[in-house]
Amino acid sequence: MRPGRIGRIVSIGLAASTIILAAVGFTSLSLGAALVGETKQVSLQPQAALGTDALKALYRRPATIPFPKDNSYTPEKAALGKKLYFDTRISVSSAQSCGSCHSPSFGWGDGLAVGVGHGMQKLGRHSPTVVNAAWGGIFMWDGRLATLEEQALGPIQAAGEMNMPLEQLMTRLESIPEYKPMFVRVFPEEGMTAKTLAKAIATYERTVVSERAPFDAWIEGDEKAISEEARPGRHQNGTRLQDTWPARDRAPCAVHARWLAGDTRAGRRAL
Ligand code: HEC
Repeated sequence: MRPGRIGRIVSIGLAASTIILAAVGFTSLSLGAALVGETKQVSLQPQAALGTDALKALYRRPATIPFPKDNSYTPEKAALGKKLYFDTRISVSSAQSCGSCHSPSFGWGDGLAVGVGHGMQKLGRHSPTVVNAAWGGIFMWDGRLATLEEQALGPIQAAGEMNMPLEQLMTRLESIPEYKPMFVRVFPEEGMTAKTLAKAIATYERTVVSERAPFDAWIEGDEKAISEEARPGRHQNGTRLQDTWPARDRAPCAVHARWLAGDTRAGRRAL
């Protein structure tokens, strides 16, 4: 938003507490104390053209991962979420986990044009990466969801994806001895419910953060960190940095774009 201009600001309610993220990213995520609460805001005004320095400031690697106040981070919660995320037993066929379509081996996607779900059915859409989802303000290609907590129960129940009714899921989890004690430890008041399952998965997803890339070093001032042709050139004039990026460098850009306020990529809404 341009200074002095009061745009319509939508609070997307990501009241966030944060934990320290060590400079090198996911692998050295340090489990520091909760820091602050903040509300993320997204401007709906058209963005004024920014110069390279201002754009660089926007793309700077954050020092912390934001977690919502009503689903704060604990290592045990993330560990439970990780177990659930990779557990195929949360799908009705016991053949698919979240990790089948959002796999670390394929950049947290599936490497396919469109997802393949229950009974090998092709889905209508590509499986997006979950990298840096912690910074996402809108999810799904049409931007219909605002939080990872809301999102997590969708694919479990969707007929074309995991096809698992929640009631059946909870009965199945009850029959797996290790889950109940983990849930009770992490959520002493709520225990094992579909809601706490979603909270645990969302917490784990937020810890999936992109590795430090040469792009980060360039953003932080090392001009030589990326090739000359990868830097924004003459034609940048007013267009967004990522729009002028050579194709092979777009991947880091797409995930870095998440930590721009609220991930308001226009394409999301255009679909
Ligand atoms: C069968 C493949 C498949 C499975 C299994 C699956 N997903 Fe997805 N996921 C998709 C597809 C396809 C989309 C995009 C759908 C859309 O936009 O309508 C998506 C979207 C998402 C998004 C939104 C990402 C973004 O940036 O918008 C998240 C987060 C996500 N899935 C997490 C999960 C979690 C958590 C699970 C397990 C509970 C899971 N997915 C299971 C295919 C899958």
